[in-house]
Amino acid sequence: MLFDTHAHYDDNRFDSDRDELLSSMPANNVGLILNPAVDLESSRTVVSYAQKYPFLYAAVGIHPEDWNKNWKNDLLVIKELAQNEHKVRAIGEIGLDYYWEKDPEGRAVQQEVFRAQMALAEELLLPVIVHDRDAHADCLTITKEFSHVRGVYHCFAGSVEMARELLELGYYLSFTGVITFKNAKRALDVIREAPLERLMVETDAPYMAPEPYRGRRNSSLYVYRMAEAIAEVKGVAVSEVERITTENGKRLFQIA
Ligand code: NI
Repeated sequence: MLFDTHAHYDDNRFDSDRDELLSSMPANNVGLILNPAVDLESSRTVVSYAQKYPFLYAAVGIHPEDWNKNWKNDLLVIKELAQNEHKVRAIGEIGLDYYWEKDPEGRAVQQEVFRAQMALAEELLLPVIVHDRDAHADCLTITKEFSHVRGVYHCFAGSVEMARELLELGYYLSFTGVITFKNAKRALDVIREAPLERLMVETDAPYMAPEPYRGRRNSSLYVYRMAEAIAEVKGVAVSEVERITTENGKRLFQIA
């Protein structure tokens, strides 16, 4: 059974067949899904999915590209959701995105929003799901400021050295379809180096469809491709990667 630890079913690309698709997952060997939110509205939506589907869990939070000027108030409501809904298992996705945000002032706000949510995770004893795009140094700095917080760096794109530091801090690393692309060398080096006990698989659906589905709408049905890619690098059976990455996700997100 696979655990897709990061998929966005609140995306409107699932509007036409969301229920049909999600309902088909358990029969297709996808036994668990974690749906992270990107803002307050999305946090409410993913909580409603978690209430509906027993195998789906939620993370609530504000994505670095999705803060608005009311973010502090939004965060108060997000905190209530996290406290009152037992299927909220993480704060996410949160972090920094310097690829889309070039303006120093915008980046400073992203850092403030990230720190506030790390503090929230610390207070609520929840793990975090970190989005780090072209912001490795600042993400690592802020991560280190919250030494009691654990979590996962999703779609990990940092160096082997950064991976070592995160593993030392107790973090997990999770990988998308990027590791099935031809130019994936850096991520594959990280996978080779990291213990299997600290790796997770994810689709980041509807984005990032793995080969041979690249360019299509992604869904958790394709998460087996990331298990296959990791198995190849590690030289172990796919069933072993499947079992261990699922255990890892259950451990981090406290799913029995
Ligand atoms: Ni995402």
